[in-house]
Amino acid sequence: MEAFSLLLLCFSLLNLIAFCAPRDTINTLQSIGDGETLVSADETFALGFFSPGTSKNRYVGIWYNKDPTKAIVWVANREKPLTDSSGVLKVNTTGILVLLDSNNSLIWSSNTTGSARNPVAKLLNSGNFVVQDDSNSDTEDFVWQSFDYPGDTILPGQKLGRNFATGLNRRTISWKSSDDPSPGSFSYQVEIDGYPQLVLREGTTKRFRFGSWNGIQFSGGPQLKNDSVFRFSIISDEEEVYSVFWLVDSSVHQRVQITSDGFCQRASWSGGNTGWIKISHLPVDYCDYYGNCGAYASCDTNRFPMCNCLDGFVQNTTDSSSGCVRRTSLSCNHSDGFVKFSGLKLPDTEGTRFNRSMRLEDCRILCWNDCSCMAYAALDVSKGPNGCLLWFGNLIDMKVMSASDEDIYIKMAGIEVEAIEQNRSTKSKKRKLKIIIAVSCVLSFGILILCLAFIIYGWKKPHKGKIKEETESGAINSHHDEDDLELPLFDMCTITSATSNFSSDNILGTGGFGSVYKGILENGREIAVKRLSQNSSQGLQEFKNEVMHIAKLQHRNLVKLLGYCIQAGERILIYEFMRNKSLDFFIFDCEKGKLLDWPKRFLIINGIVRGLLYLHQDSRHRIVHRDLKAGNILLDDELNPRISDFGLARSFVGNENQANTRHIVGTYGYLSPEYIVDGIYSTKSDVYSFGVLVLEIVSGKRNRGFIHIDHNFNLLGHAWTLFSEGKCLQIVDPSIKDSIHLPEVLRSIHVSLLCVQRNSEDRPSMSCVLTMLSSEWALPQPKKPGFFIERDVVGNRSSSSNNKLLSVNNLTVTQVCPR
Ligand SMILES: *[C@@H]1O[C@H](CO)[C@@H](O)[C@H](O)[C@H]1NC(C)=O
Ligand SMILES: *[C@@H]1O[C@H](CO)[C@@H](O)[C@H](O)[C@H]1NC(C)=O
Ligand SMILES: *[C@@H]1O[C@H](CO)[C@@H](O)[C@H](O)[C@H]1NC(C)=O
Ligand SMILES: *[C@@H]1O[C@H](CO)[C@@H](O)[C@H](O)[C@H]1NC(C)=O
Ligand SMILES: *[C@@H]1O[C@H](CO)[C@@H](O)[C@H](O)[C@H]1NC(C)=O
Ligand SMILES: *[C@@H]1O[C@H](CO)[C@@H](O)[C@H](O)[C@H]1NC(C)=O
Ligand SMILES: *[C@@H]1O[C@H](CO)[C@@H](O)[C@H](O)[C@H]1NC(C)=O
Ligand SMILES: *[C@@H]1O[C@H](CO)[C@@H](O)[C@H](O)[C@H]1NC(C)=O
Repeated sequence: MEAFSLLLLCFSLLNLIAFCAPRDTINTLQSIGDGETLVSADETFALGFFSPGTSKNRYVGIWYNKDPTKAIVWVANREKPLTDSSGVLKVNTTGILVLLDSNNSLIWSSNTTGSARNPVAKLLNSGNFVVQDDSNSDTEDFVWQSFDYPGDTILPGQKLGRNFATGLNRRTISWKSSDDPSPGSFSYQVEIDGYPQLVLREGTTKRFRFGSWNGIQFSGGPQLKNDSVFRFSIISDEEEVYSVFWLVDSSVHQRVQITSDGFCQRASWSGGNTGWIKISHLPVDYCDYYGNCGAYASCDTNRFPMCNCLDGFVQNTTDSSSGCVRRTSLSCNHSDGFVKFSGLKLPDTEGTRFNRSMRLEDCRILCWNDCSCMAYAALDVSKGPNGCLLWFGNLIDMKVMSASDEDIYIKMAGIEVEAIEQNRSTKSKKRKLKIIIAVSCVLSFGILILCLAFIIYGWKKPHKGKIKEETESGAINSHHDEDDLELPLFDMCTITSATSNFSSDNILGTGGFGSVYKGILENGREIAVKRLSQNSSQGLQEFKNEVMHIAKLQHRNLVKLLGYCIQAGERILIYEFMRNKSLDFFIFDCEKGKLLDWPKRFLIINGIVRGLLYLHQDSRHRIVHRDLKAGNILLDDELNPRISDFGLARSFVGNENQANTRHIVGTYGYLSPEYIVDGIYSTKSDVYSFGVLVLEIVSGKRNRGFIHIDHNFNLLGHAWTLFSEGKCLQIVDPSIKDSIHLPEVLRSIHVSLLCVQRNSEDRPSMSCVLTMLSSEWALPQPKKPGFFIERDVVGNRSSSSNNKLLSVNNLTVTQVCPR
């Protein structure tokens, strides 16, 4: 009897468990109402009703069951929301999923093509919601599956691409916004007009091409590779073309999403409360955006300007923005040839023709015989170049890719082919020659050393004491050499003729220490000439010592001093000329600002840190710059930052105590409070200016003349307020919004606010700044910055300060950036 009741208890408990355990399947008699969910067998995914963001509308969707952020991966009724919680999801006897509202009217239904006798709907462990026949639920024989109708997200195992037999196009379309899952303006799909390629579009215009697959990689995304957890493959044949990825480690989740602001983003989550981490985010830089350089041009983020015509092409003079045109037009009588280009993202394959089984040699002949064919390339390079891809229109959207190992052959007039080949062979000969010279130098030097070592070793034993003496005197000698560093003394005539007698047309800029002129020496070398203002009581010998001292400051982030000139009461310094001008020229201009994307700006920030660190710490004498500002950061040909005007404050303003009261050198907006108010300066004053500079680089706005409609704060006050409210991304320059790397930007803003704190002791040293920028440690909370509101300080000091410096006070910078 007892046994029986125990059995009964067990049975009812079992029943309870079966009832309470989440289910992953519904049959034609069951349904899901608002508040209920289906959970996949391994509890990875859940399906149910939800409201996105701040919206009150109800949608049926699938999300990660244990994800605290509830990332939605699929939405059924994305175009037609429910307005209340009366919705019911069912599978009817024809195997069609239907979503009904309280009036039993149809909100959404599945596009079921097959038929099932006993249909059930099931949420699989992959996140795929399927309708299948209950009797063969173990097979992959689905009547319908959500994986065939992606939303904005692709999951592991889900195909992105086409089936030519059924006409199915599995493509992703972004949400309108995070509150609205209805189809937004960005789509991402395999395009098959020509050789298949993956294209991200905004409306109907191309935004970014992931590009075509060459058997090894995507031409526009060579970064995408199999890694320790992520595997992918591409299927491209007569029947189907699609990409699919999967994960090796089941504890890691990854998804690819087209965000509502138009990026193709891969994110990873390894369970728990860690949240999703962005792995990749495309397009990244200026050259990723479709066709920025126009036809027959390559885009190179490491060059300046980034757009360059291919060899044999010149800029279209009627419309330079349309790209480049042939220097010599094709004659189309078999005198034309082909020039090989390597390391490029293959141009847009829209309108191309291809043949998978053709050999590359036959491809060349086919293109050669066709007047309208402009270029050819191999389709598949995984087993040597194979297949044939032919272009007929203008070649557009080519980016220089170091990781690309596919060649394209572009048709050119015969004389161009010869000229380019000659040009290239002389270049490679020169390179070879250089290598030979270098190698033989090293070899002969090595032999010399060996000989010396032998001689010294042979002498060492009998003449021990003498050798020591000799090396000591040698050291003294070399020390002497260093002091007598040969810095050319320029002749005044040379300088006046180089600068057209200091013509005002040649002025590059004016700073606290005088004006800078551009000059051209007789040998054609361009120089920058700094004419110091004549307020030094220093003697000539002292000046010379000081110049020698500056000449010894050599660092890749400092501008190099080439020479000097003392004559007729003038003190002049000659520097190397930087063709790319200074940072302010770029960052405060919305068009030119686009040329410096975030990765470049971050490199620049780091370069400035290294240059300053060298001045503050590593050079033999501690140097405080005292006039660090965007205008004093010059950019070399590779856009590396070069600090200029260093070492001047110390020597050219005279007695240091006087400097405190008489001349405040520097530029308002960058000056620390203790310097302006008390005339005290230290390396921490430079740290303050550096903080201002970083904020300007991030925001593209000047601290001086910053205007905001809501308040009276300067840029520092504005940034600090936003930072305290957790909204500091709002200050980011709109022209770099597309290229930012979030952690770097947030860290840069945080560090800059630490640098501009009112109290100089609170500010970090430059070495600390360097570590903070490159580490991932938590940073201290910044205190209120030195100047919150610009105007009060300026008012106090205007009577006693240099007017030239204050003239910037009236400057207002308004930027209207077209987007
Ligand atoms: C199932 O739903 C679809 C869509 O509403 C409808 O066309 C079809 O007739 C329904 N089948 C049955 C058996 O009710
Ligand atoms: C149901 O129908 C009634 C009357 O036609 C209408 O007032 C109500 O808004 C409908 N409810 C829904 C959820 O559509
Ligand atoms: C449903 O499928 C048919 C044919 O397969 C297709 O023409 C139609 O566009 C599909 N509808 C939706 C909403 O996907
Ligand atoms: C990635 O690895 C899988 C095997 O794990 C292989 O089938 C696939 O071809 C690889 N993909 C690429 C792009 O190499
Ligand atoms: C040069 O640009 C103009 C204006 O966009 C265009 O009409 C013309 O076709 C271009 N020239 C060539 C040779 O492509
Ligand atoms: C091809 O045309 C060019 C100019 O159009 C001409 O100079 C050349 O002689 C021609 N070559 C042949 C083989 O006809
Ligand atoms: C592709 O090339 C092969 C070999 O050259 C040829 O036999 C075949 O007809 C070509 N296919 C097409 C569609 O042109
Ligand atoms: C040869 O190379 C130089 C340097 O890259 C270039 O300026 C010149 O235009 C080239 N000449 C030809 C004929 O392509």
